[in-house]
Amino acid sequence: MRMVDLIEKKRDNLTLTKEEINYMIQEYTNETIPDYQMSAMMMAIYFNGMTDEEATHLTMAMLNSGDQIDLSSIPGKKVDKHSTGGVGDKTTLVLGPLVASTGVKVAKLSGRGLGHTGGTLDKLESIPEFNINLSIDDFLAQVKNINIAVAGQTKDITPADKLLYALRDVTATVPSIPLIASSIMSKKLASGSDVIVLDVKIGEGAFMKTIEEARELSQVMVNIGNSLGKKTIAFLTDMSQPLGYAVGNKLEVIEAIETLKGNGPDDLTELCLEIGSYMVYNADITDSLKKAKALIKDNIKNNKALEKQAEFIKAQNGKLPELNEFINVKKTIDITAKESGYIKSINALTVGISAMKLGAGRKTKEDDIDPDVGVVLNKKVGDKVTKGDTLATIYTNDLSIDDVLEELNNAFVMTDKKIKKRDIIFEIIS
Ligand code: URA
Repeated sequence: MRMVDLIEKKRDNLTLTKEEINYMIQEYTNETIPDYQMSAMMMAIYFNGMTDEEATHLTMAMLNSGDQIDLSSIPGKKVDKHSTGGVGDKTTLVLGPLVASTGVKVAKLSGRGLGHTGGTLDKLESIPEFNINLSIDDFLAQVKNINIAVAGQTKDITPADKLLYALRDVTATVPSIPLIASSIMSKKLASGSDVIVLDVKIGEGAFMKTIEEARELSQVMVNIGNSLGKKTIAFLTDMSQPLGYAVGNKLEVIEAIETLKGNGPDDLTELCLEIGSYMVYNADITDSLKKAKALIKDNIKNNKALEKQAEFIKAQNGKLPELNEFINVKKTIDITAKESGYIKSINALTVGISAMKLGAGRKTKEDDIDPDVGVVLNKKVGDKVTKGDTLATIYTNDLSIDDVLEELNNAFVMTDKKIKKRDIIFEIIS
C-alpha cells in the first residue's frame, strides 16, 4: 500500500477501506509516513469528510495504537462522561460523586485545560496534594472500593490521536467533524466504560458554534459508539454564557461543592440532574429515568453525594481546607453595571480568555496556572440589573489587569427589554 494512493483517493472523494485506514494510522504512529503526507490526508478529509463507517474505522485504528484500560474486573456497568469543553464547566466535579453515590462505577480519565477552556485535572489539582497520577491497579481498586476514580490520561493511551491532534493543530484541520469525533471517541473507548455520555457544548465559548454542527458531531459520535457496542448518548448544551457563576480552578471546586449541597446555580444543577439521571439509569441502578432523577435528588438532600465527594478527595490524597480558607489572592475587584436593564448576553469566550489572562488557564501547554485566581459572575443572562450592581468579581494576584477589566466589562451586553432565560439543554441524541 502507498500513502500517496490513499491521499489521491480521499482527494477524489472516494471511500477509504478499513485496511487502508489501519495502514495509514499504524505507519504514521511508527513514523514511516511523514507529516507532509498525513497533512495532505487531513486536509482531504477536512474538505471531503468521511462516511460514518470510515470514521468508525479511524476511531478503532487510533484506539488500537495504544493501551486500553480493562475495567472488566469491576462488577456492574461502568459509565463515562465527556464534555467537549467550555467555560466554567465543573460538571465532572459534581456528576462524578453524585452518580457514584448511587452505586454507578465512574472510572474517568481526564485532561488539562488549554486556552479559554478549563480542564478537570487542573480543578482537582487545585485541591492541595490531590493526586491524579494513579497506577492502573490503584485506579481499578479505587473504583471497586468507592465507585469513583479520576486520573490523568497516560501518554500510552491513543498515541496516534496525540500525534494527529498536534499535526491538525498546525495545519488548520482541527474543525473537521469525523476527525473530532474519532479523536474523542478513541479516547473514550480506550477508557473502557460500557456507557458513554457526551456533553456537546454549543456557543461562543465552545468548539461548536451552531446547533447544526453540534448535532452532526453528536450523531457521528453516537453512531461510532453504538456501532462498537457502547451505549452512547449525547447532550447538546448551552455554552453561550459560562456554566454556573465561577470560572477558575478553586472557585469552581467551591461551586461544585455548593451544588452537591443543593445550593448550586440553576443551570449547573439542572444539567447535572439531567445527565446524572441518564448515567444512573443506563448503569441499571434504576429501572426508569424518573426513579434515577429522584434517587440523585435524594442523595443531594441526604448528603450522600457530598460524603462521596469527600471520600473521593481523601482516596486521592487531597487535603481540602475549610472553604473560607481555600482561596488566597492579593486582590478582588468588582465590575459594576454602568446602566440599569437586563443582561442580554455574557460572552463565554471573553470570560474564559479573561480568566486565562489572570492565570487560571494556559496560553500554551507548557504554561503554569494559578489555582486561586478567576472570575465569579454575579449575574446571568436574563437577570435584572440596577446601575452600580456588581456584575462579576475578579480574583487576582496580578495588580495590573486593566485589559482584563475592560474585556470583562465588554463581555456583558445589556438591553432594556425583559429577556427569557436560556435553556441549558437543547437536545438529547441517543
Ligand atoms: N477534542 C478532542 O479530543 N479532539 C478533537 O479533535 C477536538 C476536540
